[in-house]
Amino acid sequence: MKMQSSFVIFVVFLLCCCNCNIPTPSKRPLEGATVNKFKSTGSEYQSEAYALSSIYLADLSKREEKVHATAVQYLKSLEDRVKLVKAYIADYNNSQTTVEKDINSAIREIDVGASPIKSFKMISRFAEDLRAIVRIRDDAENTFMERMMEIQGLHNWPTEDDAHDIMDGILRIQFFYKLNLTEFVEGTIDGTQTGVKLTSRHCWSIAQFALSLQFYTLALEWFSVTKWKLRQENVEERWPELSEEMVIAAERFTREHHDEHFDDQLKSGSPFIYTTRIGEGPELPITMREHLMNNYIGREFCTKNEFSFINFVALCNGHNFQTKEDKTKLRCWLERDLHPYFKINPLKMELMHETPSLVQIHDFIGEHWIQVLKRTANPTLKRPPPRKDEETTPRTAIYAWLSDEEIEEIDLIKKIESLTSINVATQKASDRLQIAAYTFGGHVGLHVDSLDKNAYLDERGDRILTLLMYLNDVQQGGLTVFQTMGTSAKPIKGSALLWYNSLKNGAVDRRTVHAACPLILGQKWIATKWTHLNENMFKWRCSTDPEI
Ligand SMILES: *[C@@H]1O[C@H](CO)[C@@H](O)[C@H](O)[C@H]1NC(C)=O
Ligand SMILES: *[C@@H]1O[C@H](CO)[C@@H](O)[C@H](O)[C@H]1NC(C)=O
Repeated sequence: MKMQSSFVIFVVFLLCCCNCNIPTPSKRPLEGATVNKFKSTGSEYQSEAYALSSIYLADLSKREEKVHATAVQYLKSLEDRVKLVKAYIADYNNSQTTVEKDINSAIREIDVGASPIKSFKMISRFAEDLRAIVRIRDDAENTFMERMMEIQGLHNWPTEDDAHDIMDGILRIQFFYKLNLTEFVEGTIDGTQTGVKLTSRHCWSIAQFALSLQFYTLALEWFSVTKWKLRQENVEERWPELSEEMVIAAERFTREHHDEHFDDQLKSGSPFIYTTRIGEGPELPITMREHLMNNYIGREFCTKNEFSFINFVALCNGHNFQTKEDKTKLRCWLERDLHPYFKINPLKMELMHETPSLVQIHDFIGEHWIQVLKRTANPTLKRPPPRKDEETTPRTAIYAWLSDEEIEEIDLIKKIESLTSINVATQKASDRLQIAAYTFGGHVGLHVDSLDKNAYLDERGDRILTLLMYLNDVQQGGLTVFQTMGTSAKPIKGSALLWYNSLKNGAVDRRTVHAACPLILGQKWIATKWTHLNENMFKWRCSTDPEI
């Protein structure tokens, strides 16, 4: 199985990109998977993928409705054909006398010619019965194939890679959130009943996939739930190629490999990934997430190398690491004074963190603007091509980039300028507005928006300001977390997050490191505006004091 996976990229990311000095990544395998193995596969992405795009998925779902209707017809034609074939065979059988079966074929040929009844029946079988069988087949196959070809249409036929992307998303959610798999396979996702269940066969596929990525403890959870489902299902419901013995054997294999890797890790001196050997015990091992969550969360760990990641996970689960003192500084207010624009319609500001400042502005954009943004973005939403700097535009969402002209009918740019008092209009001052749409599992690892060392490549200068607008309410998951600040923002429709990426001396403000938590359910649409330095030299007050 090809080990391409954005979860994997995510793992690479968490191990080496979150601004933490983890030694050589290859010495920090996650549940035994070597990071280098992951790295080498990063470029194998297909250019478009179903799993990540709600639009492709919706399109595919419409097409499948037609395929389903065709399949129902097709089944009926197959049944009709079976009836005709049976009738043909019976007619043939009934045309032979018992005596004939004993005489040799040379005599039989003469005999057929001698009997008008037998000759008539034989000719009828060819002229009508067999012809009908062939005709029904041709009609059914043609309609069926036509429908199937339609699926090939816009975005190609979903592949094994698409299935991997989906399973990847499921594993990511499983890892990030304490997902109850028993409930999940029965259609309840994090407390919400979706009404659609998985079968033992699906569970088996996900278990195998997790195993192929060497996520042993995740795989064991899936094997366990596979067994549970197998016992529930009727024999007729089960996939014939799957048996409980197979699952038990796979579990044993997984446990052995887990323990081998555990021993290797212990020898190499970096055992923190594992809790213990599993051996043959009947209990499922405690997952890595639980182990880390139990032992290494808290403010003191937030910025410490290997623990920063688990604190990111904790923030995604709603933890907050701000101190009492931090919290006393937080407040909400109506802002009227930034610009005359806001005199009548004041901004609803919520200070999420004081220094560096992080503000969530509620009701920043209304329904009409949101519809315009989504509608304008729709035709060009695409998965980005593979790139080295995965963190800039992660491939777990689809994106569109809108120029100022494309969104002229709304006053967004002017509103952002009024809010920030810096130049946002024109391509020189800012990036085009990025629209991103995520489906479940979609996420962005820890990163800063600053271009930092690449900034000199950009004639516009570094990205000094980020304004991130939420275009919908997210059902579950999908928080925006600021690790060093120890806080998170909820995607609330129409609200916007605002922060500055650079210190006044121009250096990157690493305290703005942030991430988008995996989405558990629903979709997440955001619009982001990054504003650059060079057009704002005089508006952006410079200082040589690194503390500001
Ligand atoms: C026709 O005869 C074959 C053997 O000659 C037998 O296997 C089959 O069951 C018979 N089918 C019917 C419909 O009588
Ligand atoms: C998962 O949910 C089921 C059904 O609600 C419950 O019986 C089981 O104890 C839960 N498992 C865990 C590990 O919480």
